[in-house]
Amino acid sequence: MQQYLVDLLEKIHSMQCDDNDISAAAQYLREGRLVAFPTETVYGLGANALDDTAVAGIYAAKNRPNFNPLIVHVKNIEHAKRYVVFNALAEKLAAAFWPGALTLVLPRKADCPLSLLVSAGLDSVAIRVPAHPLAQKLLEACDLPLAAPSANRSGRVSPTTAAHVEEELADKVAMILDGGACKVGVESTVLDTTADTPTLLRPGSVTLEQLEAVVGRVALSGGGNIKSPGMLESHYAPNAQIRLNADGTQEIGEALLGFGSRAPLHAVLNLSKTGDLTEAAANLFSMLRELDKDGAKIIAVMPIPEEGLGVAINDRLKRAAAPRG
Ligand code: TXA
Ligand code: MG
Repeated sequence: MQQYLVDLLEKIHSMQCDDNDISAAAQYLREGRLVAFPTETVYGLGANALDDTAVAGIYAAKNRPNFNPLIVHVKNIEHAKRYVVFNALAEKLAAAFWPGALTLVLPRKADCPLSLLVSAGLDSVAIRVPAHPLAQKLLEACDLPLAAPSANRSGRVSPTTAAHVEEELADKVAMILDGGACKVGVESTVLDTTADTPTLLRPGSVTLEQLEAVVGRVALSGGGNIKSPGMLESHYAPNAQIRLNADGTQEIGEALLGFGSRAPLHAVLNLSKTGDLTEAAANLFSMLRELDKDGAKIIAVMPIPEEGLGVAINDRLKRAAAPRG
């Protein structure tokens, strides 16, 4: 394309969204609401990554049947270091590819304030610094880490224009920031850098060749079979055994995890006293951890309705209850 056309298109794109829009979006995010925003790869469905309830709202809006961990977007590497532990490998990769379409999976810091739900209970976080100027402005304005999966409903393709997001999620978001069409159009590359040899978890717009030019060998997860971390055995399971569909009667050594207003008084914790599934999702991982820490041998969980976010909650609980190998 002629350069003047490229410039003109840039201009039109940047006009679609002004500073007032950015501050409105930042305010919504601080209030725990969802904002769709452009990145150089695809549009993201953003929420305050520090806020469990806001993050649960992402899963509800996408209608995701499980809790896949989400990517956290931050302004720069210094901000990333507030949340995750860097090693030499990650430093090298960040220097080479940030801001840009590379997502690094790194261990959560001991005092990491990010929602446990963004990690879907894992001890790691997928984090990246987006290059898109609007994403950068938004991160600057809200001064929050933003959890953002692609802004599509579960099972649909990732959106690369604001109109795509509008079609799928218009009624679920407080606002859609229009930054025109995404330049890259393919999701970021997800690389596990928690071990000495990096492992490619999801191929994306940064290629294997580009990665290997910087760090040498990159392993392919499962010999090329990219598994969703939600399916991996390493996925967080509590130390305690899980008993599902507990009716409220409790056996010796069990801790009862309640749900709803009919939970008996001896329920140690309640996922949601009002039976609100978003609240239950927001509490799920932290409550399982808390009961684990208290040394419960068995966590008996009251039934969760198999609807809306309940599907993802039950999926997670069923995995945790499955026999361990
Ligand atoms: O380009 C992109 O990456 C877009 C834009 C919006 O940034 N985001 C995106 O997010 O595609 P999402 O949630 O659709 O994909 C996140 C990917 C999934 O494959 C997920 O399993 C993986 O990252 N992931 C997230 N956290 C992880 C973790 N702690 N360990 C391993 N994989 C993780
Ligand atoms: Mg996606």
